[in-house]
Amino acid sequence: TASLGIALRGDLLDFVAQPDLADVASAAVRFRPDQWLLIDADGRIAGAQTEDPPAGWTRIDHRGRLILPGFIDTHVHSPQLDVIASYGTELLDWLNTYTFPAERRYADPAVAEQGAAMFLDALLSHGTTSAMVFATVHKVSAEALFAAAEQRGMRLITGKVLMDRHAPDGLRDDVVQAEADCKALIARWHGRGRLAYAVTVRFAPTSTPEQLAMAGALCRADASLYMQTHVAENRDEVAWVAELFPDARSYLDVYAREGLLHPRAVLAHGIWLDDADRAALREAGAQIAFCPSSNLFLGSGLFDWAAQRAARVPVSIATDVGGGTSLCQLRSLADAYKVQALAQRRMTAWDGLHAVTRGAAQALQLGDEIGHLGVGAVADVCVWDWAHGPVATQRQSVARELHEKVFAWMTLSDERSLVSAYVAGEQRYARS
Ligand code: GUN
Ligand code: ZN
Repeated sequence: TASLGIALRGDLLDFVAQPDLADVASAAVRFRPDQWLLIDADGRIAGAQTEDPPAGWTRIDHRGRLILPGFIDTHVHSPQLDVIASYGTELLDWLNTYTFPAERRYADPAVAEQGAAMFLDALLSHGTTSAMVFATVHKVSAEALFAAAEQRGMRLITGKVLMDRHAPDGLRDDVVQAEADCKALIARWHGRGRLAYAVTVRFAPTSTPEQLAMAGALCRADASLYMQTHVAENRDEVAWVAELFPDARSYLDVYAREGLLHPRAVLAHGIWLDDADRAALREAGAQIAFCPSSNLFLGSGLFDWAAQRAARVPVSIATDVGGGTSLCQLRSLADAYKVQALAQRRMTAWDGLHAVTRGAAQALQLGDEIGHLGVGAVADVCVWDWAHGPVATQRQSVARELHEKVFAWMTLSDERSLVSAYVAGEQRYARS
């Protein structure tokens, strides 16, 4: 007879609400030590229990390990694995020196296909089961990502990059071709299975005003589309945008005026925003992806999470690889903690882990589908060791209460602690 599904045993951790800032004893945390997580044959979570599941359930015993929703990375660049950890530049030089040459290779369908497969497998092997991804300017690069995500059953949001100026040959589109490519990709992929399209403006300097207007028109025509871009990441970039768009009140205003800010808009960085910008984000329902690893590596600046929170702008945490130096969201969280610490603020493990699970899911309007271990969620689930190596093992052995344990786990762990990753109940990564 067919299996009813699988049952994973371990320490279940997820969130039922947004934790309050600096609340180490938050009631938003749902910790269910040593329970069976039941995943039905359709790949959805059916429940959790302490009793052994009845016959018919395939038991997988991870007793003594941690089970979390797969992480969500709201801002990452698939073609940039080839330039991760490139030495010595800030944003604008980094783009010209490393990134643009790497992205040019994705005009080749074979490169795009192989790159997409390797990228998605890398996400899974770092504990990330869903992502909002920048492809390249080439239509084929977005096609390849959608196809590879579909093969793996992953929730993926991506789009071809719009850039029609200030980029080298082989990396520019034009308004007419770009619009046609976007429409074709939307028709083929948007809303198909777990896939969705994001209108993907690279950043204001690489799009003409005409292209920004086209992007805004796409968003206005279909409110179910996502939008992703970069904003106010680096001071030289901000100054350049002010030169290019002298009529705009601010960098963010360039996007606002074109109708690009809406509840499905995710803007990466937002380090150099002001209060009026944050109010505009709040008004539009748009959100920021905080990318601490990238911000530190490229020397871009220290993001003010507290100011966004005060302005009630949703914030998720993202890797921004290849500006960021790891695909592992636990590394992002360790960096995010240190960025807060420099501002005399404290990020609890709950703030951090919520931002890469339930918080990101809700910000993407996918809170029913992903980001938690409640009944009915799609079973995108990762199994982690509580510790890797003698130092972390010792630290865990002396930890007394839950926040202390989880904070040390978050801070000391990386992808080496990942045991397995399930996407819609299918195991897609297993540590060898
Ligand atoms: N701004 C425009 N393009 C990029 C990019 O690829 N990475 C980062 N971090 N910032 C950008
Ligand atoms: Zn980026």
